[in-house]
Amino acid sequence: SGQFRGQVTLDGPSGTGKSSVARAVATQLGAAYLDTGAMYRAATVAVLDAGVDLSDAEAIARAVSAADIQVGTTADAELVTVDGVDVAERIRGAEVTRTVSPVSAVPAVRRLLVDRQRALVAEAHAVVVEGRDIGTVVLPDATLKIYLTAAPEARAERRAGQLGVTDPGRIAEIAADLRRRDEYDSSRADSPLRPAADAVVVDSTGLDREAVVERVLELARTAVGEP
Ligand code: DC
Repeated sequence: SGQFRGQVTLDGPSGTGKSSVARAVATQLGAAYLDTGAMYRAATVAVLDAGVDLSDAEAIARAVSAADIQVGTTADAELVTVDGVDVAERIRGAEVTRTVSPVSAVPAVRRLLVDRQRALVAEAHAVVVEGRDIGTVVLPDATLKIYLTAAPEARAERRAGQLGVTDPGRIAEIAADLRRRDEYDSSRADSPLRPAADAVVVDSTGLDREAVVERVLELARTAVGEP
């Protein structure tokens, strides 16, 4: 079998194991990897550091466009910088996670980041891109579009496991927070979270990572006409 050439999009809500699936698929295909959520998170760092009013969309857009945001495009190293400062850990923290939805809802921010995403993707012969609107907006002509979903309880359990949380009350809070973020992301006017008409919906509830990765690789091989 030859080298995979093409674009695989992986969209869906948080807590489905999307990132680890996307990285594994990129590695297996020998493809580049782009985490667009990391770009929105880095933009949020810029907004927080600029100290702008979060209800001022224009100020948010100005802060993002003034910042030098760099993200890596390989699956095996997370490289994220804002104005030359490594923010790979900070973008996963509670403050950024709390603030990223209003930042990513600003249309001017999305336009800016979507342009950069398309430029980064254009450099690669093969690429796996994960996010919320990749199949619907960023790469409407992608080779293969996957929409990865899972039951909210399964997603909360997965997130709790990552955070080392075992208390049922805290897990219920995580589930509530996931639902709130999904609702926000699915109902925003600009590029809401939803599967593209031609996406394959994969439900990871009750499946381990390897099974999901195998399913996506199978779909990728079929999409490029390999048996
Ligand atoms: O996948 P994530 O949790 O790192 O994404 C962070 C936030 O960015 C999430 O609230 C949704 C938003 N996002 C988006 O609006 N569009 C994308 N393509 C990727 C992420």
